[in-house]
Amino acid sequence: MLKMNVKECISNKRSVRAYTEQEISDEVINELINLGTKASTGSNHQPWGFVVIKNKDEIQALSEETKTYLLKNLEQYPYLQQYKSWLTNPKFSVFNHANCLIIVYGDTSSHWYVYDCTLAAGNIMLSAHDMGLGTCWIGFAEHVCNAPEFKEKYNVPENFELVCPMSIGYMKTKMYPPVRKEPNIFWCR
Ligand SMILES: Cc1cc2nc3c(=O)[nH]c(=O)nc-3n(C[C@H](O)[C@H](O)[C@H](O)COP(=O)(O)O)c2cc1C
Repeated sequence: MLKMNVKECISNKRSVRAYTEQEISDEVINELINLGTKASTGSNHQPWGFVVIKNKDEIQALSEETKTYLLKNLEQYPYLQQYKSWLTNPKFSVFNHANCLIIVYGDTSSHWYVYDCTLAAGNIMLSAHDMGLGTCWIGFAEHVCNAPEFKEKYNVPENFELVCPMSIGYMKTKMYPPVRKEPNIFWCR
């Protein structure tokens, strides 16, 4: 496979919501997480922790739990109300039927943990794209992946907070590059 350069990788990476059944090896997962940890961090604290879920039934159960929770509490999440019809659709998977999740947590004792872990998540997403894998940040899962029961199950220490729930898998279809609005650039008068 021809290697992409960084600009190509950034310019073409999309949020992917359709995956093949192909499993991602532990070797690939470890490589992606290692690339994630190359991100810069405030005071070099490297305040991250990762949960990897590769069990499709577990992911499906987590999706159902997320849908049930959000539908019950939708008034608390005005920015998600536009997705009510998705959440009520029995076929809708919050994780887009991915067979793998990489969930990034940050150590709250480090002031910059949200920025640091977001940079790590960005590295993972771009590296995944470079390796022919698709990813998607799953904001829907913000509550369930940060719930005490979930963190206890996956041995996430109490002082770690969720930053990025991410679905990942081999892409089913090729996607067009993203189209963006003109950026606001605040030049000096
Ligand atoms: C913080 C954040 C939360 C997101 N949450 C979801 C989500 O819950 N489900 C989903 O399908 N996409 C989610 N996305 C993906 C966005 O919808 C996507 O980035 C946007 O539509 C632009 O598309 P592109 O990434 O393919 O260019 C999220 C992205 C970000 C950065």
